[in-house]
Parts: sequence; structure tokens; C-alpha cells
Amino acid sequence: MNTIAIGCDHAGFDYKEKLKTYLIEKGIQVVDKGTYSSDSVDYPDFVHPVAQAVINSETEGGILICGTGNGVAMTANKYPDIRAGICWSKEIAELIRLHNDANILCIPARFVSSHMMMDIAQTFVETSFEGGRHKRRVDKICVC
Ligand code: RB5
Repeated sequence: MNTIAIGCDHAGFDYKEKLKTYLIEKGIQVVDKGTYSSDSVDYPDFVHPVAQAVINSETEGGILICGTGNGVAMTANKYPDIRAGICWSKEIAELIRLHNDANILCIPARFVSSHMMMDIAQTFVETSFEGGRHKRRVDKICVC
């Protein structure tokens, strides 16, 4: 992935800023959908713009950061064409791309180090979907 929409709530703000800098240094184009400070906000308000950026092909993928990674994942996965996975290791990040064709990475800021987050994000953007039997399974996810 060469283009990423990124979003977070107050719990993910510091990590989002660090990750944005890291990704830009790696040559990735980052579209920042907020939040833009550590003031308390409601995470869905920052998930919808990221999910819509991916659906509308404004970016190839998205990264969302909140305290547990769960609120942002639950919200993003309401969109039929979004597959958002919560990751706390590089191995999981690789597998959600290889096997699940995840198009949004969700990071639990309160439970991973910022160094780990960078490794997870790099793995996510560099890994491609394996297809084959996994495509058949991914095609069965949507209930609509
Ligand atoms: C914010 O305190 C926290 O609830 C939020 O970041 C997230 O973990 C929700 O799922």
C-alpha cells in the first residue's frame, strides 16, 4: 500500500502523530482524518472518514488507533467492504493481510509500545493478500 488514511481518538492521538511521521519517512502518502489533539472525542467520528476514504479509493488502506483498538474496529466493520483487524504483533498484521485481505489496521494504543506499532504498521502496508482459498473465505464474510 502506498496511500493510507489514518484516524484516531484522544487515546490514540500521540501514537497517530508518531506513526504519521514514520510512514511519511517510508515514502507512504498519509491522509490524516484526525483527531488533531488529545482532547476527549468520540472515536466513531474519526472512523467514518477513514472507512469512507478506503471505500471511495481515496487511499489504498487505513489505520485506526484507539485505546483498545476495539471501538474503531467495531465501527469500521459496519461497512460491508471494510475488513478491519486489530493487531498487537507483526505476525498478526501479516496474517490479516495474507489471509483476510484486511484493508484497515486497528491498533490498541494502550496495549502496544510505539516501537511495536511501527513494526505492525510497516508489515501491514508491505504485505499483499494471498488470494486462493482465502479469497473464497473472504467472499463469504459479508451478510448483505
Ligand atoms: C477512550 O477512553 C477509549 O474508550 C477508546 O479509546 C477505545 O478504547 C474504545 O474502544
